[in-house]
Amino acid sequence: MEVIIEPDVDAAAELAARILVRRIREHPASVLGLATGGTQERVYAALLRLVHSDRIPTDQLVTFNLDEYVGLAPDHPASYHRYMQQHLFAAMEGGPKRINIPNGLARDIVAECAGYEQAIREAGGIDLQLLGIGEDGHIGFNEPTSSLGSRTRLKTLTAETRWINRAFFKPDEEVPHHVITMGVVTIMEARTCLMVAFGERKAAAIAAMVEGPVTAMFPASALQYHRDTMVVIDEPAASQLKLRDYYQGVYAAKPAWQRRD
Ligand code: PGA
Repeated sequence: MEVIIEPDVDAAAELAARILVRRIREHPASVLGLATGGTQERVYAALLRLVHSDRIPTDQLVTFNLDEYVGLAPDHPASYHRYMQQHLFAAMEGGPKRINIPNGLARDIVAECAGYEQAIREAGGIDLQLLGIGEDGHIGFNEPTSSLGSRTRLKTLTAETRWINRAFFKPDEEVPHHVITMGVVTIMEARTCLMVAFGERKAAAIAAMVEGPVTAMFPASALQYHRDTMVVIDEPAASQLKLRDYYQGVYAAKPAWQRRD
């Protein structure tokens, strides 16, 4: 894993956006894996700024989102369909060419999940997968004890995740128990992964993912087996990394030709 530590949230979001933009500029027909959550709101805001200022064409992009709540209609305010429209797609002139987000209203969940995997394969696989991390180590909605060999499927959220995500629902609404999420292997098959995390709240999770043991108890740790994962974080999120100085030294001494932004 390549750990890149930026001084603050704005710089980290900007760097993640520049990595995405460079990929899109060099390969306009890229297949992007997209994520949701508070972290990505900052990344998408920076991405849209760059796309507009640098006139980056997005109309050939194909996107696949990581996950969606089961039982929420696409126009539900807490659905990830709605999130993506609100934070990215509505402001993306002319693109993407094809947007894929799991259908949380699918009658046949098993067929929906198999179809999602098939669609990723038919698109040629995911070139760059954007990721956030849960405090419990989830990537997508692969909660602790998720099979490290899993593919897109139904998952049950932990009480902790439902409690954290409560903020996006009305007080009298129940947070869904179930989601459809890409599996750990679906994510691992992306050619490049770009993990982004900000803040002290994520520091323990980042340390466990980068430096802890690989374990299904902490699904993000599976990324230690991924050959091309960048981890873009701010200083507070880096505060529990043992080899923090080393990562900073590596990045500072990185030859220009190796840079991805
Ligand atoms: P967050 O969510 O960006 O809202 O912290 C990340 C996640 O839970 O995957």
